[in-house]
Amino acid sequence: MSVIAVTGSASGIGAAVCELLANQGHTIIGIDRQTDEKFTQVSTDLSSPQGRNAAIEHVKALAKGQLSGLVCCAGVGVTAPDAALITSVNFFGVTELVEGLKSDLYQNDNPAVVVIGSVAATAQLAGPHAMVDAMLGGDETQTRQLAQSANAPQISYAASKYAVTCWARQQAAAEGNKGLRINVVAPGAVETPLHQASKEDPRFGEAVKKFVAPVGRAGQPAEIAATVGFLISEQASFITGSVLFVDGGMDAMVRAKYF
Ligand code: NAI
Repeated sequence: MSVIAVTGSASGIGAAVCELLANQGHTIIGIDRQTDEKFTQVSTDLSSPQGRNAAIEHVKALAKGQLSGLVCCAGVGVTAPDAALITSVNFFGVTELVEGLKSDLYQNDNPAVVVIGSVAATAQLAGPHAMVDAMLGGDETQTRQLAQSANAPQISYAASKYAVTCWARQQAAAEGNKGLRINVVAPGAVETPLHQASKEDPRFGEAVKKFVAPVGRAGQPAEIAATVGFLISEQASFITGSVLFVDGGMDAMVRAKYF
């Protein structure tokens, strides 16, 4: 079994991913700004370059050359304190970590990365916001300025998830011949503290509550973790650059004429 690093390990989907992978016999290195005694060994803030660099160095030291998987779950939703923070955590908190740990992943057989995107990313398909280009250009300062001037957390959120999905697919295409697989899981509503906070938010709560998937319920973190467990495993050896919606049919409902 191998060593797998998981961001967002202290709560929700990330905690469920840690539980599943640990039960399969993998060694887990959890990364989170919150502390918890179960899986989180790297306590850091992924919203800043310093926090990301600290995470990269700490993971390298703990993995001792054995890292073969990285699952990026850490993220903030529309209730985050400001719209720029959403882009820093959800995009740069993923891309810089993957970049920083890539050389370690390549030291092991069958390395794989799974990024948690969102069904919300598809809101950007018709006309991506300018901050998407800034993110894909790697310019965090410009991204944050654009996010601050738009001052719309729901746009920052959708743009960050759209950009990180595009970035993961670009990486999959670029790294495929070297053996690194990168896939995205795009959840719909999942019962976690992040989702609960969205439901309670005076600006977005009503819309979130009314947006129910065809299966008639929100998902459980373990249902997302099961998909992540498959994508990180060798059973998914021919899958890279894919976006797997795990959303109770939400995307099919919203984009019934497209795929
Ligand atoms: P959660 O709030 O339960 O867990 C998120 C974790 O990320 C927390 O432990 C938090 O401390 C950590 N985190 C946040 N900002 C951080 C930072 N700056 N540095 C380090 N750690 C940080 O939320 P949930 O729902 O488990 O979210 C996991 C991922 O799933 C997120 O990327 C979210 O956008 C995505 N997602 C969630 C959906 C939902 O309905 N719950 C739907 C679609 C996507």
